Amino acid sequence: MKNTVTLFALVLMMAGLAACARDPVPDAGEVAAAAAAGADESAVMDAALPPVVVYKSPACGCCRSWAEYMRASGFPVESRDTQDLDAIKAEVGVPFGQGSCHTAKVGDYFVEGHVPADDVKRLLAERPDALGLTVPGMPIGSPGMEQGDTREPYDVLLVAKDGSTTVFAHHGD
Ligand code: CU
Ligand code: CU
Repeated sequence: MKNTVTLFALVLMMAGLAACARDPVPDAGEVAAAAAAGADESAVMDAALPPVVVYKSPACGCCRSWAEYMRASGFPVESRDTQDLDAIKAEVGVPFGQGSCHTAKVGDYFVEGHVPADDVKRLLAERPDALGLTVPGMPIGSPGMEQGDTREPYDVLLVAKDGSTTVFAHHGD
């Protein structure tokens, strides 16, 4: 039944979009956590961390969540809203089909999608000869994609200068 399969794919797609487009309204717990994070921000803030410039659609809620998470992880973060993310992805070298909802630049690297801050810090410390890191798609449970206790296993891929990828880190199980 081709129609059933098509409908199923459509529903999956819409569920994914809804998850990303939702406007996260912080609840009391999150506000308290953010306040606590702010209180010892000077302890977390590492002067050596370069700014993270996040290119995203203005409508993307999970992109904003990731940007806030990176800020809470000690990075100076600058958000730039754009409607032409494809141009940014092409410019920095995100391999076709390995992209996500937002693209960031940090140091000489790109960071595509919901990459954990510790992996970005490791990238900057190890300085591999590469273009950047990507988490393709938007795995549930990755930073900025939290949904209760659900954790989808996912890989962080290191993108080499020839566009090939290797597993940089694995998360979620
Ligand atoms: Cu997202
Ligand atoms: Cu995003």
